[in-house]
Amino acid sequence: MSQSYLNPTPQIVILDAGGQYCHLEARKVRDLGVYAAVYPSNTPAGEIAFAKGIIISGGPASVYDPDSPKVDPAIFAHGQPVLGICYGQQLMAHLLGGEVTRGEKGEYGLATLELDDTTDPLFSGLSGHQQIWMSHRDVVGAVPEGFSAVGRTDTCAVAAIAAPQRKLYGLQFHPEVVHTVRGMEFLSNFVFRVCECVKDWDPRHRVPAIEQEIRDQVGTRSVFFFVSGGVDSTVAFTLCIRALGPDRVKGVYVDTGLMREGETDVVRQLPGLTIEHAQEQFLGALAGVTDPEQKRHIIGEEFVRVQDRVIESRRLLEESWILGQGTIYPDTIESGGTTNAAVIKTHHNRVAGIRKLMESGRIVEPLKSFYKDEVREIGRELALPAQLLDRHPFPGPGLAIRCLCSAVDAPLLTTPEGAIIPVNSVGVQGDSRSYAPVLAIDSLDHARATALINRLADVNRVVAGVELKVPLSGMQVRACSLTPVRIARLRCADAIVRRVCQESDYDRRVWQFPVILIPLGTVESPDSIVLRPVESVDGMTAQSVLMPDDLLGRLNNEILQLEGIAGVFYDLTHKPPGTIEWE
Ligand code: XMP
Repeated sequence: MSQSYLNPTPQIVILDAGGQYCHLEARKVRDLGVYAAVYPSNTPAGEIAFAKGIIISGGPASVYDPDSPKVDPAIFAHGQPVLGICYGQQLMAHLLGGEVTRGEKGEYGLATLELDDTTDPLFSGLSGHQQIWMSHRDVVGAVPEGFSAVGRTDTCAVAAIAAPQRKLYGLQFHPEVVHTVRGMEFLSNFVFRVCECVKDWDPRHRVPAIEQEIRDQVGTRSVFFFVSGGVDSTVAFTLCIRALGPDRVKGVYVDTGLMREGETDVVRQLPGLTIEHAQEQFLGALAGVTDPEQKRHIIGEEFVRVQDRVIESRRLLEESWILGQGTIYPDTIESGGTTNAAVIKTHHNRVAGIRKLMESGRIVEPLKSFYKDEVREIGRELALPAQLLDRHPFPGPGLAIRCLCSAVDAPLLTTPEGAIIPVNSVGVQGDSRSYAPVLAIDSLDHARATALINRLADVNRVVAGVELKVPLSGMQVRACSLTPVRIARLRCADAIVRRVCQESDYDRRVWQFPVILIPLGTVESPDSIVLRPVESVDGMTAQSVLMPDDLLGRLNNEILQLEGIAGVFYDLTHKPPGTIEWE
């Protein structure tokens, strides 16, 4: 097993044709023990000639859309095996002279595949009827010359195609999802029988190899990190400490004053870490600010200042230092980075000192070829506490973007559907962000909330009032900014939610659970809390989920006892159209 974990060469290249499928496909191939990596769909064939095989991923586009993802047709010409999945099959058929038919209704969900009995290595052992999972509108109407259709469902005549002499294959269904019962066998046949890959990616026992590579790369220098307290930077930091010893690894954690309760204490337990106290700097710069964009901008600027100061005062630009970062695999690829990654990246790239270190190659990123759950596995091998490894994502700007403000006093507006709360929050519509008020209704009803959002153009979020000290008609929105008192209020409510959810294990059942403070209330109790538990895979889309009544009751009771809180609301909005965060 000669694979390098820090600079691996993929045997299987996944061409990203959009959406989330490419990452799932890469993960599944890695689960088979073969390193796979995602490349932009239009990568020239010459740049991926090293791969033993190529997978063109699924994606939501139609080959007839003018902007749909394309691949270099030369990938089909050199005998390199190619497997097109879903959109990938359609694109392959389209580019090689077959015909793709626009679907009217589409086919979503479970279906039964009838697969011919062929001697072809891709389908070896898989003939007959089996459950698969489909998600498509268009279909392949006519296969290209030299191909045959070898599988079908009741509604899709071309569910699997093959041109075995050219090692070209297509599947209309998704072998990478669990609902395709024998999906891993299709992938395994492609990887081992068609592409003849050898196992090179062992998910177990990789820590010693990573540590050796860190030592090789760092040499006699020392490493410093800006640690965020998140899973990635903590695991990367711990790996470096184990590889090089605590004397040669230093970490700095910036306490912005916008952290959750107890956060700084958790981070404090890491060896070799110092805390840069910058609460006054951040809160001072944010005083009086109400506009969300301005908040983010100020926080970004202050981060740059702190980091510059640390780099300068500790003379970290001297040759004896190299920068460590917790970059993970999806952060490094152009097409798949999450909002999260993009934000963190731009902010780091703006610090001149950090840019200089990156440009001169003085950077070690021990996790840059791993996915998040692989990072968690590594963390478990390092015996890091589960409490740290399983924590939900938390945005870099911290509580600031969950503490909503208002420049003016404003009354609620009663409509036949409910009450319009004049607090603007962010949403997504197509690719653009919207900024619109919230509608409050009186029942925890997702179907009704979704119907209302679809119908009402001027709101992008629906909440239900679940426990109010006074009726909604007695509340109003009050002018307020980001003050230490309001941040402390939010921090207390957030801590209650976290504690109750941890005790009841509810936090394992949701992907993320933002708690938001909005300036809605009375003179005595000027603010309200919004609960936003969501289900998601990667944050790109999300579903609002309900919680058990008894748990919600406990939360309401405790939160309403907090000073300054007039009510508890529940966000019923899926993403799209409502983003996970409110700002
Ligand atoms: P949205 O609100 O866009 O969030 O649906 C998607 C995911 O990204 C996280 N998020 C951020 N993370 N800095 C971060 O580090 C940010 O500015 C930021 N904004 C959103 C959010 O928590 C969710 O997981």
